[in-house]
Amino acid sequence: MDKIIVLDFGSQTTQLIGRRIRDMGVYSEVIPGDTPLTNEILNSDVRGIILSGSPESVYTKEGAVPDQKIYTCGLPLLGICYGLQRMNHDQGGKVEPLPKREYGRIGVKINTKNSNTNNSNTTNSDLAARFLAGFAPSFTAWMSHGDTLTTLADGFREYGTSDTGYPAVVLHDAKPWFGIQFHPEVTHCEGGDEILKAFVFDVCGASKGWTMEQYVEEVRSSLAKRVGSNPVLLLISGGVDSTVAGALLLKTLKSDQVHLMYMDTGLMRKDETKTVKATLERLGAKHLHIIYCEEEFLGALKGLDEPEAKRKAIGDLFITIQEREVERLGLPDSCFLAQGTLYTDLIESGKGVGKKAHLIKSHHNVGSPLVDAKRRLGRIIEPLDKLYKDEVRRLGRIIGVDEEVVRRHPFPGPGLAVRILGEVTKEKCDILRDADAVYIEELKRRSLYDEIWQAFAVLLPIRSVGVAGDVRKYGWVLALRAITSADGMTADVYPFPTKDLLEISTLITNTVKDIGRVTYDISSKPPATIEWE
Ligand code: XMP
Repeated sequence: MDKIIVLDFGSQTTQLIGRRIRDMGVYSEVIPGDTPLTNEILNSDVRGIILSGSPESVYTKEGAVPDQKIYTCGLPLLGICYGLQRMNHDQGGKVEPLPKREYGRIGVKINTKNSNTNNSNTTNSDLAARFLAGFAPSFTAWMSHGDTLTTLADGFREYGTSDTGYPAVVLHDAKPWFGIQFHPEVTHCEGGDEILKAFVFDVCGASKGWTMEQYVEEVRSSLAKRVGSNPVLLLISGGVDSTVAGALLLKTLKSDQVHLMYMDTGLMRKDETKTVKATLERLGAKHLHIIYCEEEFLGALKGLDEPEAKRKAIGDLFITIQEREVERLGLPDSCFLAQGTLYTDLIESGKGVGKKAHLIKSHHNVGSPLVDAKRRLGRIIEPLDKLYKDEVRRLGRIIGVDEEVVRRHPFPGPGLAVRILGEVTKEKCDILRDADAVYIEELKRRSLYDEIWQAFAVLLPIRSVGVAGDVRKYGWVLALRAITSADGMTADVYPFPTKDLLEISTLITNTVKDIGRVTYDISSKPPATIEWE
């Protein structure tokens, strides 16, 4: 299958490049920008390489350097922002700081006189013309850069200039090297998709081979081959990812081989355990082990109010219970362990893809002694680890997972514990569960749920005064969160229709008696994170 490689130099929007290309039907893989490009990586499927943006500068030691093989391998290159600066710098040109950083929407004009230039290399002039055909003569681009090209390297020529007077589109006369100073992957960039398409299809000649139906078949056949007749254990959280991973196992292997384990920590959403059980049984689960451990979790959280201490207590207890219960199941050593890890989980946990990503909160999903031991033995299966969230949803639909489950918003591993600020108690879990259920139900009823990437309620550790009838009330304060996002790495506040927000607030205070006041969280990520703890 044709493939485009994206070298990740750490820009916030690198993952979007990969996603846009997959959305066009071409497989793309994001790898750390300084990965040595072995023959295995640069195999015959690769049609082109994209160099991403970066928060660093090419002239400092922090600026990651790609394997210089990119310049001799003959593949088409597209440098985006830092990627362009990198190519220019590596080829002997000059990159210097701008007097003032440029950020946001900036106009770009294509210089047609340059695009008509007769190149000595006709193949390349043909490629250049095909690439430039993807550009409108003038358009509003989206930029975020503190450096600019001040001297073009030999062979580079400026084909587009920003309204602020800096090189915006730069092509090489003789090689299939293309550079743009702006970010076509960002939706605010006018015609961004057309530019990426021009590179992927018209320059690289990639053909569409990435369909979810085909991917499902490939994953199922490699899963069946790898597992053979051995048993597989999957830890189910109740969320989309692990449920889809479970469905994939159940639809591929014999149901007797598949062991599903789910912990009811008492920190779950309303009726979660009931729903999980019904969903998995409908999908054919025969061995579903539900562990009721609410008391243990609430006991471990008693007296803790610091976010990382709470996360650690939950993570440690997860591991203790997991080891105890797995032991109890008595599965043989040959048993595989499956996980619903996504592409973005690997990034957010600082593992694997995108070395520049840093750890902001400790996540529990990626590692545990059991996972580490199975990984050492080569007995881990992560059938979703090449997929983004929306792709997992598509896969789920194809293999028959209920729409209600597939469209469900993400839910964090530590559950309601990170949405109850301060100490967690059963009483607070029950209040939050009720309020959250009202909120989510209303979003669905008002057809707003699918417009939002993630919505939930947060119980604040404060109470405030109000009136109910003629009686003074001293109730808890609830914050509502609703964000839009591509993959949870960055997030914008959902511009809630005021009428709906006010009506939902009233409904919550009227039906959940302990809530006295409702607020709406208007912080994006960054600087805030999606969860409050
Ligand atoms: P933050 O709060 O880091 O969240 O902006 C980004 C996304 O990750 C989810 N999240 C978690 N998911 N285990 C998970 O499985 C965790 O420990 C965890 N913490 C946050 C969060 O809900 C959002 O979708």
